[in-house]
Amino acid sequence: MNKIEEIIIGTNNEGKYKEICDLLPKNVKKYFPKEYGILTPEETGKSFEENSFIKASYFSKKMNLICLSDDSGLEIDLLKGEPGIYSSRWSGEKNNFDLAIKKIFVKMNSIKTNWRNDNTARFVCCMTLFWPDGKNHLGKGTVKGKISTLKKGENGFGYDPIFIPNGYSQTFGEMKFKLKTSIDHRYNAFLKIKKFFT
Ligand code: IMP
Repeated sequence: MNKIEEIIIGTNNEGKYKEICDLLPKNVKKYFPKEYGILTPEETGKSFEENSFIKASYFSKKMNLICLSDDSGLEIDLLKGEPGIYSSRWSGEKNNFDLAIKKIFVKMNSIKTNWRNDNTARFVCCMTLFWPDGKNHLGKGTVKGKISTLKKGENGFGYDPIFIPNGYSQTFGEMKFKLKTSIDHRYNAFLKIKKFFT
């Protein structure tokens, strides 16, 4: 099997781009769609798997390069899996995660006034590798945890300030980059496709 030498990272989210680049070997040349004026396709799928495939095939065809895409999100049990595949859309057009996090607290409070012990959740990530000839491979990873009653930490992106992974007391937002990216859903998804790079 030929090892991958250059790749387009199928996301325009800078937080994700940084984390995915960090997972990949240094000698792999990485392209960021935004730098080539390529917008993200509409995510019309009904699952992380479908949306991850849509993005990977789209970016691969646009650049005629192998693409590694990521579709991910936060599933909260009390909210029956919401925001799930709509995690990005909850932040609105301006990607305002203060707003998305407020929405989560409002919804959880409306279902249960004291949800401190009913706060289980998970982050999910589906990564798809798509080759210009149509070959593709998907890896899925999750990390289980809890929703913090308070927003904590300045690190990371998106919902990181309210997610406490099981076995830890800090939110992802309080954790150092290296620790988060060695235990999270993206890392666990990457383990399943790592063989194409090393
Ligand atoms: P999409 O995969 O581009 O549809 O966006 C996924 C959304 O889920 C992101 O915009 C984030 O809000 C959220 N998300 C996914 N992974 C993470 C993470 O590692 N930390 C915090 N939020 C995340």
